Amino acid sequence: MKVYEFTKSYELFEEAKKYVPNGIYGPRTPTFLTFGSYPAFIKRGEGCRIWDVDGNEFIDYMCSFGTNLLGLKHPKVEAAAKKQMENADCFTLPSDQWLPMAKKMTGTIHNGDWCVFGKNGSDVTSYAIAVARVYTGRWIILMAKGSYHGSHAWCQPHGAGIPEEWKSHIRYIEYNDADDLKRVVEENRGAIAAIILTPHRHDALRDQELPAQKFVDTVNTLAEKEKFLVIIDDIRCGFRLNLSGSALHYGYNADLQCFGKAMANGYPIAVAMGREILKEEASKVFFTGTHFFSGVPFAAAIATIDEIQASGAIEKIAKLGTMLMQGMSDAASSEGVKVTLSGPPAMPFMNFHDDPTFEKNRYFCGEAAKRGIFFHPHHNWFVCAAMEEKDIRQTIEVSALCFKLTKEQFGG
Ligand SMILES: Cc1ncc(COP(=O)(O)O)c(C=O)c1O
Repeated sequence: MKVYEFTKSYELFEEAKKYVPNGIYGPRTPTFLTFGSYPAFIKRGEGCRIWDVDGNEFIDYMCSFGTNLLGLKHPKVEAAAKKQMENADCFTLPSDQWLPMAKKMTGTIHNGDWCVFGKNGSDVTSYAIAVARVYTGRWIILMAKGSYHGSHAWCQPHGAGIPEEWKSHIRYIEYNDADDLKRVVEENRGAIAAIILTPHRHDALRDQELPAQKFVDTVNTLAEKEKFLVIIDDIRCGFRLNLSGSALHYGYNADLQCFGKAMANGYPIAVAMGREILKEEASKVFFTGTHFFSGVPFAAAIATIDEIQASGAIEKIAKLGTMLMQGMSDAASSEGVKVTLSGPPAMPFMNFHDDPTFEKNRYFCGEAAKRGIFFHPHHNWFVCAAMEEKDIRQTIEVSALCFKLTKEQFGG
């Protein structure tokens, strides 16, 4: 099996540092992974595969951090985007795709009676908490410790450059802990505008957890009783678990829901949606951005949603993901390596036992990257509908070897 080298990637990365702080910033930097075992720059992609600047080919289990659901360069999505592009993309006013997209979203998402459009997930999670604050006339937002809702000041995990006070209206709960939620609600009675939650717990650097029925019931009951809103941040899971939204999938009575990532198969668009009763107050929140209105991502999103429905993509990724999780679990057992695969099969995560600093995981994923399988050691993976069973079999074969190498490196 060929072992890749990343000579050009690292030359370019070194050069990029002269022009960009850290060369590449955020979670896409190669220094965050197993430095030296991953590419730094990607040249092209098709379906579930990507090729780096050294010409190495990978099956991509990060799916562009979740945007690639149907496969890169999906013909129907590309045709819709191209058709809009022929009319140009970014105008002074919204394009004629605005209304069809609003109708598509409200016709698709359960309890989504209206929508507003932004570019990134962070735009719309921030918008949703503002709507909740205007509607309730309260400031406090509850969120789970360790959950990621974006890069904006109120929720970003790092603090550089952000005054502490900007997070002062946030209160933290333990995800899935109904008693902790009750305690925090009791401590902030009458002041809570909303709770914002990911549909299930998919924080980086830990096993995923599906929401316990008791937790979901407690969220719904307390929100109704104490008159705060439930915001489901479906940026990462949206369109992967249920076409009508993950709130419906898990049973949350969502008042506001946020989508992004997979909804346009890689074209930049994000959406916040709400119940009818919130619409008037929602109209008071200032929300805009120069590129929020560009037409191509709208056309791509409509085509993506139609194709997810027509092709049965959600069922397909669940089936392939189940095969992946089972196959990797069996391969690890055969090598005498203990791992846990967690989360819904469409977006699994793998954790090594006795690996508190994720060193084994980084080594394993680095060795896999050197052999053409792009996993991430800290973040959940994604399965896309362009994958086929042969891709999963190739992945399991490479993984079996990488489990062996990891065992040789670290012991059992
Ligand atoms: C659950 C969740 N919410 C919000 C965001 C922020 O989205 P974006 O990076 O598009 O701003 C992310 C991004 O990973 C996310 O996973």
